[in-house]
Amino acid sequence: MKISGIGSSLPKQVVTNQMLAEILDTSDEWITTRTGIKERRVLSSEYVLDLAVDAAQKALVDANLEAKDLDFVIVANVVNEYVTPALSCIVKEKIGAKCPCIDLNGACVGFIYACDIAEAYYKIGRVKNVLVVCAEAPAHMLDWHDRTCAVLFGAGAGAAVLTPGDNIITTRLTSSDGWDRLYEMHDLQWCPFDKKGSTNLPLVMHGQDVFRFATSTCVNDLNVVLKEANLTADQIDTYFIHQANLRIIKYIEQMLGQPAEKFPTNIEKYGNTSSASLPILLDETKRAGKLHEGDMIAFSAFGAGLVSGAMIMKW
Ligand code: ACO
Repeated sequence: MKISGIGSSLPKQVVTNQMLAEILDTSDEWITTRTGIKERRVLSSEYVLDLAVDAAQKALVDANLEAKDLDFVIVANVVNEYVTPALSCIVKEKIGAKCPCIDLNGACVGFIYACDIAEAYYKIGRVKNVLVVCAEAPAHMLDWHDRTCAVLFGAGAGAAVLTPGDNIITTRLTSSDGWDRLYEMHDLQWCPFDKKGSTNLPLVMHGQDVFRFATSTCVNDLNVVLKEANLTADQIDTYFIHQANLRIIKYIEQMLGQPAEKFPTNIEKYGNTSSASLPILLDETKRAGKLHEGDMIAFSAFGAGLVSGAMIMKW
């Protein structure tokens, strides 16, 4: 397939490091040097659903397609306002699509997982036009008293319309042991026959373990897809790396021996927006006029699971 349209949507509320330093034992200096984040967007009056619908509509306009042309809607999401139905059902109805739809929890790798599923359905002849939406609000999962997690995340949504083409060159999806390095349990309703009691537990993250996993898997995944695509690192024009920590991105630059100009970032403005990070970054890079037809682009992401993925695509 190829990406024919892209769009993104962010909450209005900006939360700066300074604002966090007023409620947590942290500082702009600590957050900036350890993560590269200066501010993030947090939901205030909007819902995750609103961001998802807005990003989806922008991507459809960009693709010059109407919702009725879609054959499948995939929404990557970890947490939103609805336990059921799937967020994709509501998004599909709000934009006026009539096709099947499904949610996918691929953590921060959701965009690559969703594109790969779209491509697989296309290759077996089931679909022509697929809408992928990544909509996330990780800040609503965490304990805002926990400075180690609260400073990292932000909300946002990105969407892409995939249509027939042969631009996706290769994709790699992986999973590794270590689910308990980054997890959160649901707050389930009380049941008189369940003896376990409350399971309400905010996000748990072993930051250094995740950091080590991220750096090693990202470099490995990119090297594998480069080899599969018969390309060298120099032949990639732009690398889109999941925006989790600027230090992770800098490490990957060094390991691949590539210049910083090939690695666009927006982590300084939005923090880690989970699966939405890649399509938001793609959308902003395109709108900045920095993507050209025929460019070779690589994506890489890693997240809770522990899962990771990489993809090479011709723009
Ligand atoms: N402000 C001030 N001090 C802090 C803060 C904070 N916000 N957070 C932690 N500290 C303190 C710690 O308590 C610790 O203090 P101590 O030395 O007195 O014990 C000190 O800073 C160092 O803490 P570390 O955890 O060692 O800091 P580190 O350099 O590892 O940075 C970080 C932490 C930013 C979380 C890093 O480990 C990281 O980025 N890990 C990867 C996280 C990630 O990518 N997660 C998401 C991936 S999956 C997904 O996207 C959903």
